[in-house]
Amino acid sequence: MNYFPSNYFRYIDGKLHCEKVNLQELAEEFGTPLFVYSKNFFIDKYKELDEAFKSINHRIYYASKANFNLSVIKIFHELGSGIDVNSAGEFYRALKAGVKPQDMLLAGVGKTDEEIILGLKNGIKVIKAESLEEVYVINSIAAELDVMAPVAIRINPDVDAKTHPYISTGLAENKFGIDTIYAYDMFIECSKLSNINLTGIDMHIGSQITTIEPFVEAVIKMAELYKKIKSGGVPLKHFDVGGGIGVLYNNETAFTPTELAEKLIPIFMQLDAEIIFEPGRFLTANGGVLLTDVLYTKTNSLGKNFVVVDSAMTELLRPSLYKSYHHVQPLEQIDNIDFNTDIVGPVCETGDYIAKEREITMVGRGDKLAIMSAGAYGMVMASNYNGRRRPAEILVDGSEYKIIRSRETFEHLIFDEV
Ligand SMILES: Cc1ncc(COP(=O)(O)O)c(C=O)c1O
Repeated sequence: MNYFPSNYFRYIDGKLHCEKVNLQELAEEFGTPLFVYSKNFFIDKYKELDEAFKSINHRIYYASKANFNLSVIKIFHELGSGIDVNSAGEFYRALKAGVKPQDMLLAGVGKTDEEIILGLKNGIKVIKAESLEEVYVINSIAAELDVMAPVAIRINPDVDAKTHPYISTGLAENKFGIDTIYAYDMFIECSKLSNINLTGIDMHIGSQITTIEPFVEAVIKMAELYKKIKSGGVPLKHFDVGGGIGVLYNNETAFTPTELAEKLIPIFMQLDAEIIFEPGRFLTANGGVLLTDVLYTKTNSLGKNFVVVDSAMTELLRPSLYKSYHHVQPLEQIDNIDFNTDIVGPVCETGDYIAKEREITMVGRGDKLAIMSAGAYGMVMASNYNGRRRPAEILVDGSEYKIIRSRETFEHLIFDEV
């Protein structure tokens, strides 16, 4: 069954292409496993979201955790995006991609002193604090550095994002942010600290959210709070909606940025605030595929089929971690009978799989497959488990392509060891 959640990946004359580049040829030139991204998909998605909110004061801060390749960060930054970073490492990556700290937001439920110092010394736009204790720590570090710390506080609006429990972050039981009931008092308390400049309110209720209602519910709650805090005398400037917009992995019904804008803009219009968005998955997921090679096929005594491929949880962790669905598409369009199979990787874990009980076209050794929707939370979660070398990444732009990260060598595996 063919399923293409993005127009940038489709068959041309029976060969799967990314934009105008034949993926079979890329797999042969660079080997597999191989991540391939469509630059024009990234650009289109960014513009789609940006356009939808053009009537209000807003800015997108691309959540680089979704895909932190330097070239990918640079594409979004050149379009005008700021960058959301979740650690000193992501901060370093964004800097190396040419982003100024004034265009970065520093997030994270457990920032270290090193990360806070890095942000403050470099003049980061805002640090998003997640507890009262953290604000006190930021205040004392800022006092030592003799600077004012720009701080937003992340609120946990206690809204069910109706997504996988591991990527739901806005329920009271989750570790993120401050409970709404404590928020007002906390803002007033923190506004009195000598080295804290409270600049905004922040939320992020989860990822892969495919219905609008949780966003609307959370934004209504947060907007009330924002107004109350401002009338309490704290001159907040920005309202951060977080990320979370869901994408199509398998025929889900998702909403468009325009539909989201229709619901949210009337609420935002009541606030005198810069609206911040932190999308990651929406901008990148369906702009990438992971190419893989079929190594072996076998059928066990129970009649169960296995297709063993050269990609594993070490390249794409999402199926093993969240039981996520990724569509699998052969690179050569073959009108062959479908068969039911597990598609599994070479790693020594039963939990290492790409697809379970999937109907796919009959394939055999040497056939190449594309694992779709792999542009977000793919390469960033790759690991060296089982001594595997992380794959290369290719960026396609029309009929051009370039390598934006080389495949790891054996030397990479041991370079920092004695
Ligand atoms: C604080 C924050 N902002 C933004 C994002 C990006 O989310 P998404 O990729 O679903 O847009 C995340 C993801 O976990 C996050 O934790």
